[in-house]
Amino acid sequence: MKVFINKRIPEIGITMLEEAGLDVTVSENPDLTQEEWLEHCKNTDAILNVGQNKYDKDFFEKFPNVKAIALYSVGFDHVDINEANERNIPVGNTPEVLSKATSDVAFLLMQSVARRASYYFQKVKDGDWGEFDPLHELGQELYGKTLGVFGLGRIGYEMAEKCKKAFDMNIIYHNRSHNEEAEKELGAKYVSFEELVSQSDVLSIHANFTEEHSELFNKSVFEKMKSNAIFINTARGGFHNQKDLYNALVSEKIWGAGLDVTNPEPIKDNDPILKLSNVCVLPHIGSATIEARNGMAKLAAENLIAFSKGEKMPHCANPEVYQ
Ligand code: DGY
Repeated sequence: MKVFINKRIPEIGITMLEEAGLDVTVSENPDLTQEEWLEHCKNTDAILNVGQNKYDKDFFEKFPNVKAIALYSVGFDHVDINEANERNIPVGNTPEVLSKATSDVAFLLMQSVARRASYYFQKVKDGDWGEFDPLHELGQELYGKTLGVFGLGRIGYEMAEKCKKAFDMNIIYHNRSHNEEAEKELGAKYVSFEELVSQSDVLSIHANFTEEHSELFNKSVFEKMKSNAIFINTARGGFHNQKDLYNALVSEKIWGAGLDVTNPEPIKDNDPILKLSNVCVLPHIGSATIEARNGMAKLAAENLIAFSKGEKMPHCANPEVYQ
């Protein structure tokens, strides 16, 4: 079975595929154009996809040769799952292995914003250490505050657990269903979306992105948040309206924001949000640790190896294709 990988991934994944006897092609160009990428897709049975290439109806119609996709990500918002199901194409993803790393980034952003770390770091880089000033740009402490988690799955749980252990924060969450483990272990409380928005001191998004969530966090939502609230998005930029977020930050409707994902992504270098001192922006590095990326490579390889043997992908975004 031929496998095309559009960007080099940690060696462990490639070795696993080769040792399983698969015919692997890795693009040595990490920045394939859309045309170059599509050209490669013509000549393969399966794809190990790195990044946000779109797999929609048009793609599946043009490339009936592609029988399986293993994503190098946990998110699968760039794949039209209904279209994949129609054609019985399994779509593998990489859950669990990046939950710690991604929630670490949410936790890092929360603290950076609470203590105004990017503002102060910029000052130091500008040669402006400053005098001790009892009132200048004070941060806020997180002890006993309320963390609101939008989407309490694996990553949300890790974030909630860290916040509970480090700062004894109260955990509230809004989700499609109740998370009994979080309720039992962390005392997490299920609340309505409105309650989540109005009660959170820190609101952190950890849900899977779908079109129904598009810019859910917008002007009317930011207006209902607390004035000391910190907004954290490490999930997908599409969850928030970035102009509305900017306005909420500038008018001090909310305290600050930590973003590992932006809307659009990449962020434009002239985006005014980058000028704000109460914002910390990272370039989508949630899973960027050696451990998580090796784990992702392993899971993606396991998915394709299982598929090549006619077995179910062990980590599958659309397990319904096997029913
Ligand atoms: C994921 O795994 O979904 C990360 O956000 C990388 O896209």
